[in-house]
Amino acid sequence: MNHEPGRLAVLDLEPAKSDFLSETLAGLSRTPRTLPCKYFYDERGAALFQKICELPEYYVTRTETAILRLHAHEMAQCIGARCELIGLGTGAGTKTRILLEELEAPAVYIPIDISKEQLRQSTALFHQLFPQLKILPVCTDYLQPFDLPDPLRIPARRIVYFPGSTIGNFEPSEATEFLRRIVDLCGKDGGLLIGVDLQKDSDVLERAYNDSQGVTAQFNLNLLRRANRELDADFDLERWRHRAIYNSSVGRIEMHLISEIDQTVHVADREFHFRCGERIITEFSYKYTPEGFTALADGAGFDFARIWTDDARLFGVFYFTLKL
Ligand code: AVI
Repeated sequence: MNHEPGRLAVLDLEPAKSDFLSETLAGLSRTPRTLPCKYFYDERGAALFQKICELPEYYVTRTETAILRLHAHEMAQCIGARCELIGLGTGAGTKTRILLEELEAPAVYIPIDISKEQLRQSTALFHQLFPQLKILPVCTDYLQPFDLPDPLRIPARRIVYFPGSTIGNFEPSEATEFLRRIVDLCGKDGGLLIGVDLQKDSDVLERAYNDSQGVTAQFNLNLLRRANRELDADFDLERWRHRAIYNSSVGRIEMHLISEIDQTVHVADREFHFRCGERIITEFSYKYTPEGFTALADGAGFDFARIWTDDARLFGVFYFTLKL
């Protein structure tokens, strides 16, 4: 565990490079082949994701932000005064900022993110915007069990804020498992505020993940670029094509990288053969109905309290408390 000195101290639990290697080798050895989507977010990947969030076709971020702008006051009323706010994967912090502006005297804010640079930048900004707020950033892969820093102030309750519909990037069974961990983290008076992308017309979804400027394609291909740089791999980026499809039978977008020729790729000291047209699945993005997500959270131990949506019901922000 590594504490960096200074006002912007980030508790640094960043995953080791060896995890990326072992997960890549395991994923490429599977049928169908997969690569873990959490490795999208190196510095270039995080910047590309920021660009995705601003694309006209990618309604997700814009819609969630608009819901917060309209309803953060009500959300803050549900949460109550003097909470400990734990932000999971809060990135640049745009949405959290809207929430924090409405919260009554939050005791402490603990942003947890895998991108150290984004944590540093958002923490620096939040120190300026909220000089009274105690901020304890933690750089870690929050999918793995982690320890929280001592909040130093006693909060009224612990609230986990998980925006961006990142929960959709988990398989439903993993999502339930993950929500169970959040139940444990929250303790009995706690709550969960979570952004979830809702099911909708497949054309709208496929456009959002196959954008006309090709930013999502670059984002997807960046995973291979990262493997080349960090794992001594030799993917030829010109020979792979991005495609996202909506699988309506299970309600998920599937991101694929498709081999354009028969080819052999080396990763560290291993060799992988791909046939022309063969795919690597890099990400699932599940879309839920309000009822479907409420049932999933119920299975993990949460009680539904509120949902806020936009007029077109593209996106939902849910508030759950713990079952008694
Ligand atoms: C981070 N996550 C919620 C995004 C999503 O929509 O599933 C990641 C993403 N992948 C392609 N575009 C955006």
